[in-house]
Amino acid sequence: MSFDDQISRKATGSLKWDRYLDTDILPMWVADMDFEVAKPIQDAIKKRIEHPVYGYTVAPKGLDQAIIAFLDEHYGWKVQPDWLVYLPGVVTGLAVACRAYCEDGDDIMVNPPIYHHFYNSHEDKRQQLVKVPLHKEDNRWTYNIEAMQAACHAKMTMLMMCSPHNPTGTVFKKSELQQVAKMCAEHNMTMISDEIHCDLVIDRSVKHIPTAVACPEYADNIVTIMSGSKTWNIAGLNCSFAIISNKERRQQFVKAAHAIVPGVPPLAYTATEAAYREGEPWRQELLTYLADNYQALSDAMTRLPGLKLQPIQATYLAWIDASELAMDDTQGFFEKHGVGLSSGEQFGQAQFLRLNFACSLDALNKVIDRMEAAIKTL
Ligand SMILES: Cc1ncc(COP(=O)(O)O)c(C=O)c1O
Repeated sequence: MSFDDQISRKATGSLKWDRYLDTDILPMWVADMDFEVAKPIQDAIKKRIEHPVYGYTVAPKGLDQAIIAFLDEHYGWKVQPDWLVYLPGVVTGLAVACRAYCEDGDDIMVNPPIYHHFYNSHEDKRQQLVKVPLHKEDNRWTYNIEAMQAACHAKMTMLMMCSPHNPTGTVFKKSELQQVAKMCAEHNMTMISDEIHCDLVIDRSVKHIPTAVACPEYADNIVTIMSGSKTWNIAGLNCSFAIISNKERRQQFVKAAHAIVPGVPPLAYTATEAAYREGEPWRQELLTYLADNYQALSDAMTRLPGLKLQPIQATYLAWIDASELAMDDTQGFFEKHGVGLSSGEQFGQAQFLRLNFACSLDALNKVIDRMEAAIKTL
């Protein structure tokens, strides 16, 4: 198996590919990867499938231990088994958190641009979103702590944050996380830290720090949500987990999930355990391949006037400033030229584009050629 292999995903029911099923448009939008899943994960799923009953399932005994060992090894985070709450998706976890920790009339802070489900996880008629945009410091997107402080008030009860950040690719520094956690503690705000992209740091000079590790004094206030789904390309299987060290907060979360959130599917548990236990060699190769792809994209972007690639530290999602093209519909323009990107509009910055570069280098080069040809038509 090689990351250079191009596997056809057409007509497999793939959300990413089937949007453009009968066209020649290359899909570079939704965040899943075109790479074959690591062999140990495939083998574990095959083994589980051999048992022909797929009923309601509890987390396998080894899963807690596989996750705990991984978090300890990579982040020095000593997680206790009873802190883990399994969920069939991170977005589900965001919605559960809004229901668990917010009352009618509460405000929730989010920091645009941000993954679009941050805008619709709350209960529309019950809570309001307050948007405090990120700002750029040294060409890197980060929190505007003064503006966030200024927006806090008694009814601001929650912050939903994403670390590392989708779509800007920022890996936050310890000091940044500490400032935000301190603000949340001072204003009695629960911190929801979506860390789904934490194992996808492609800039080897920086390290992800879980928010709860950066700020142990505020850990009672923090609900972390993680998943192996992005890193090991198993998003369609649906297994994620919240890490909640405070017992009362954990009970509130479990209560809010009860009766509306289904259990995790058996194959999802199996795949996730294999990923955390045996997926590290594959992950290391993946990070190298993604970093090389990002470099190739970065080099090519110098040939594409009107587009500015923002430096990223994590994720396989390039964040591209297209404001100089001054178009109403930049996404539609590139789609007409055979490239299906995400419009920045859904994340809260309409003049940007997001490009998923988790594909073979050959496929990425084809996309770059098409984008270059598109720009030449202007
Ligand atoms: C920040 C973030 N959270 C959550 C998700 C989706 O998580 P899930 O598929 O587990 O609901 C994504 C997917 O791209 C994401 O980028």
